[in-house]
Amino acid sequence: MSLPHVKLHPSFGAKLLDTDLREIKPNVIGKLLDLMDEHAVCAVPHRVPLTNEQHINFSKMLGPIERSAKKIAGTGKRLPFDEIIDQSNLGPEGAIYKDGDRRLALKRANRLWHTDMSFYRIRGTYSVLSAHIVPPKGGNTELIDMRTVYRDLPDTIKKRLVNLSAEHCYWHSRTLGGGPSPSAEEKASRPPATHPLVLENRRTRREALYLASHIKSIKGLEENEGKQLLDELNEFATQKKYILSYHWSVGDVLIWDNLATMHRATPFLDQKYVRDMRRTTCRDLAI
Ligand code: OGA
Ligand code: MN
Repeated sequence: MSLPHVKLHPSFGAKLLDTDLREIKPNVIGKLLDLMDEHAVCAVPHRVPLTNEQHINFSKMLGPIERSAKKIAGTGKRLPFDEIIDQSNLGPEGAIYKDGDRRLALKRANRLWHTDMSFYRIRGTYSVLSAHIVPPKGGNTELIDMRTVYRDLPDTIKKRLVNLSAEHCYWHSRTLGGGPSPSAEEKASRPPATHPLVLENRRTRREALYLASHIKSIKGLEENEGKQLLDELNEFATQKKYILSYHWSVGDVLIWDNLATMHRATPFLDQKYVRDMRRTTCRDLAI
């Protein structure tokens, strides 16, 4: 029997009704992964947010977990855990970043559609985002099921995608999203990675379009032609009917499959309100 849940969107997304990720036993993980195969996104509410340790312990059950991204200038740590990515608008001392702060600009680039860690050769698989403090208004996370998008693409476009790969680069999306230009050292610390535009899921065999604002170019296509194709794909994928908009409550944990979805943060008054979100990410293979 599958874990009790309700649907979040007509074509994907589930909200678990009676599951506490602090208590989940290894023998129930299979059921959760089955649900993820079907829905690609699972929301799991808790009355009290998971501690960092609980968050990490749960995430480890989903696969090899990413530890500490390579250091980017000025990103001192508020949360002393290599596995946790601080997605808040708070600096190391716990105060809201000032407008114009380089570190806030890097976070704001999450407002472009993307999938996590596609800029690494060993891609992100599951992301686990946990809400500690949410603003009174705004700050939803939006998600799209890229398997449905792929299924719905016109055959003429599907044919064009056969054997095409894209170059994903972290700095591309950061600058596109209004972030700072990287130093030469930063650039070298996160070189681009190449992945097919269409992925077949290892577990379900379903195909998904693998798009992200990290994509800098399409291999083998002229710059203009590549850009045109990407614009066309992005326009198709981001139609309103495909979007699930998740409204957060404190204690919610949202798990998404990066190889089956795309997501983005949405604006809120980030100079006035705190939004304290923390993420762990699993990777394709242990690194
Ligand atoms: C992330 C992300 C979106 C949000 O944590 O990977 O993109 O709404 N977050 O914070
Ligand atoms: Mn993200």
